[in-house]
Amino acid sequence: MRSRMIRLVFSGFAAFLILAPLVNAQSQKGHKPSTSEDAIHTLSRKDTRVPLGITPAAAAGLQLTMREHLEAIRDIVAALGQQDFERAAKVAHDELGFPKHHQAMQREDGATFPPKYHELAMAHHQAAEDLAKVIPSKDLRTILPQLDRTIEVCVACHRAYQL
Ligand code: HEC
Repeated sequence: MRSRMIRLVFSGFAAFLILAPLVNAQSQKGHKPSTSEDAIHTLSRKDTRVPLGITPAAAAGLQLTMREHLEAIRDIVAALGQQDFERAAKVAHDELGFPKHHQAMQREDGATFPPKYHELAMAHHQAAEDLAKVIPSKDLRTILPQLDRTIEVCVACHRAYQL
């Protein structure tokens, strides 16, 4: 009885040894490119983003605002996940809405931006204000599409401009 068990375990192990490389090869054939491969791909594509040409001080101010924008998106998603709608609405308004624009301008050292960039910045604050307005509905079917529209403006500006 015991030796049968041992034989069974061994034959199972042998089957694993034979099959494992096959399964591995199979999964590598259809493997998705890794993030670093994606990055190399993106870098080899021509960068058509317009440089803003602002001073290093203004650029540092802009980058600080941007990192806070990303944290705000994280906080909004986290609050929605916890059904803390009040907090989600407050972050959307305070951290991404028009109040944030004034803070951002103060940090940007009097820099001037192309009109199209300014339009995108305004569209982004407006989208966040609209998000803050729909969050009290507590209806994720309304909230998530507006969150998507908000993030879409981040993406649109990042596609068009660089420091
Ligand atoms: C009106 C234009 C505009 C909008 C809107 C915008 N960004 Fe940016 N963001 C930029 C530019 C320009 C850079 C610099 C990119 C570069 O030089 O590669 C940047 C850089 C960043 C960075 C990198 C910061 C660093 O320290 O290097 C993060 C993170 C970021 N943005 C997040 C966001 C998020 C999240 C949103 C939306 C909630 C957003 N941004 C909306 C223009 C914008």
